[in-house]
Amino acid sequence: MAQQRQYKVGTQLDKRVHQSSVIMLPPPQKDGGMPLLTALRLRRSTRDYIDRPIPLQALSDLLWAAFGINRSNGDRTAPYWRHVMVMDIYLVMEDGVWLYEPKMHQLQRCMLGDFRAATGLQEFVGIAALNLIYVAHGERMDVPPQERRLYAAADAGFIGQNVYLYCASEGLATVFRGALDYQRLGEILNLPDQAFVVFAQTVGCAKPH
Ligand SMILES: Cc1cc2nc3c(=O)[nH]c(=O)nc-3n(C[C@H](O)[C@H](O)[C@H](O)COP(=O)(O)O)c2cc1C
Repeated sequence: MAQQRQYKVGTQLDKRVHQSSVIMLPPPQKDGGMPLLTALRLRRSTRDYIDRPIPLQALSDLLWAAFGINRSNGDRTAPYWRHVMVMDIYLVMEDGVWLYEPKMHQLQRCMLGDFRAATGLQEFVGIAALNLIYVAHGERMDVPPQERRLYAAADAGFIGQNVYLYCASEGLATVFRGALDYQRLGEILNLPDQAFVVFAQTVGCAKPH
């Protein structure tokens, strides 16, 4: 039976990486991991975290698994509505807010500062290493505004399940989240006019029991 990987204590992002405005992620591992059915057996939501950073390689693999490019035409590991790319993934970590850029497989810094606690209404969001924020660009969706959330939510759900399965495979903890102050989080992220927060997802290391 495949075993879950345990991350070593104290694995940190390099300080120079932290302070830069772009993090070039290491190439993602696109093979290996746990058998799919084992990962499905282990998939669950976790709400008890410790404040331990996610190693850079795991962050790279996680983002690729979530919504990275898996084909030469630029398509992704998750399906998306009408082949229109509306979804951005923001990363809210202790050192700031970052935007995932799948084409370059890099993170672009958006903000300095620790905004983790503002990403949800549950205490653990301020403790876990990472909160992914799924943001949709409504202006790219040629349907009435009231329908946009529906399709964007489907996009986010597929990405969220990829994250769940990656985390199950790699011994990380996660929970998909809808309990958050959407308006406030959108303001904090300084989103453009018609962009909106769809859901969030916490990722980190589970508190040992
Ligand atoms: C759309 C959606 C929104 C959710 N919002 C939250 C949330 O805000 N906070 C939370 O702790 N869990 C949230 N969850 C996780 C569910 O509570 C969880 O998946 C469910 O209880 C089943 O548990 P499991 O994931 O461990 O199987 C959400 C799940 C979904 C699909």
